[in-house]
Amino acid sequence: MSTPEPTRPAPPDSAARPRPVHVPVLLDRVTGLLGPACAGEGAVLVDATLGLAGHALALLDAHPGLRLVGLDRDPQARAEAAARIAAAGHADRATLVPAVFDELPDVLDRLGLAEVQAVLFDLGVSSLQLDRPERGFSYAGDGPLDMRMDPEAPRSAADVVNTYSAAELARVLRVYGEERFASRIAAAIVRERARAPFTHTERLAHLVRDAIPAATRRTGGHPAKRTFQALRIEVNDELGALQRALPAALDALAVGGRVAVITFHSLEDRIVKQTLAAGATDRTPPELPVRLPEYGPVLRLLTRGGEAPSEAEVAANPRAASARVRAAERTRRAA
Ligand SMILES: C[S@@+](CC[C@H](N)C(=O)[O-])C[C@H]1O[C@@H](n2cnc3c(N)ncnc32)[C@H](O)[C@@H]1O
Repeated sequence: MSTPEPTRPAPPDSAARPRPVHVPVLLDRVTGLLGPACAGEGAVLVDATLGLAGHALALLDAHPGLRLVGLDRDPQARAEAAARIAAAGHADRATLVPAVFDELPDVLDRLGLAEVQAVLFDLGVSSLQLDRPERGFSYAGDGPLDMRMDPEAPRSAADVVNTYSAAELARVLRVYGEERFASRIAAAIVRERARAPFTHTERLAHLVRDAIPAATRRTGGHPAKRTFQALRIEVNDELGALQRALPAALDALAVGGRVAVITFHSLEDRIVKQTLAAGATDRTPPELPVRLPEYGPVLRLLTRGGEAPSEAEVAANPRAASARVRAAERTRRAA
């Protein structure tokens, strides 16, 4: 996918609809973790998942010498973020780029940035995407079965639901949704779509509810929650993009630079944990008698495991419940 030209945030459109309510997750912890790397004059923060710019604005507010490169593949998110950044008076320090975050090396190249001081990934969907039924992410209201973060992307949730085999659907639901009844739901989808293809979220949500044994419907939230999460991850290739982007982000970090990643899913967290642990490990071959500096770690871990939000944060913002943050600092360039 090519990356269109970056833009500076323009002043907000007065005819736009009311701002979505947005509560950035783990805000204090993330600003604390990235703060030391953002404090220098001309430091560059890449927010790889700009969303509504909640974290980015807090860091711009706190560090007057900081520049922001904000990536998001969702044009609505970029427009909303641009309006918020402009309203806060930071437009001249921000460059917003329409890109999938695994395009980061290309984006930095085009901006002439050899290295950056901080990178943030706050994975998953934004409140804006979840709360607008027309985006098709939500099982709560009816909308088109879409779920694309980038509305120009070639494959929607309807494409997945209407074309994948029962076995492929079951795999997606089991692996990405950790759905116990994946095969039953997949079989029901294949049976029902033969009558008429799925076009809207509500019909799918009802089908999932009916496919699940009645006794289990009362536990674990809405019965369609796991299916919708799994389809969203598949449609947007969320794990593939993370697997490609995180090593590239670490490569782009200056010595002393910091990365923080907020995940909402155990498979995302595992990718982050393994990638950061690999960078923090000495790779001297075991047959050598002494550790050699060129095989030494390039990262220092800043978090102890995946840190969860406090009970108070989860009580105030239930969407934060499954969030975990991991962070690391680059200690030296790789040999
Ligand atoms: C959880 S929200 C970020 C919220 C943001 N930190 C804030 O405080 O407003 C995630 C955002 O990242 C975007 N996103 C997710 N995966 C992406 C990817 N692979 N490339 C670019 N943007 C992505 C989504 O479109 C969404 O707007």
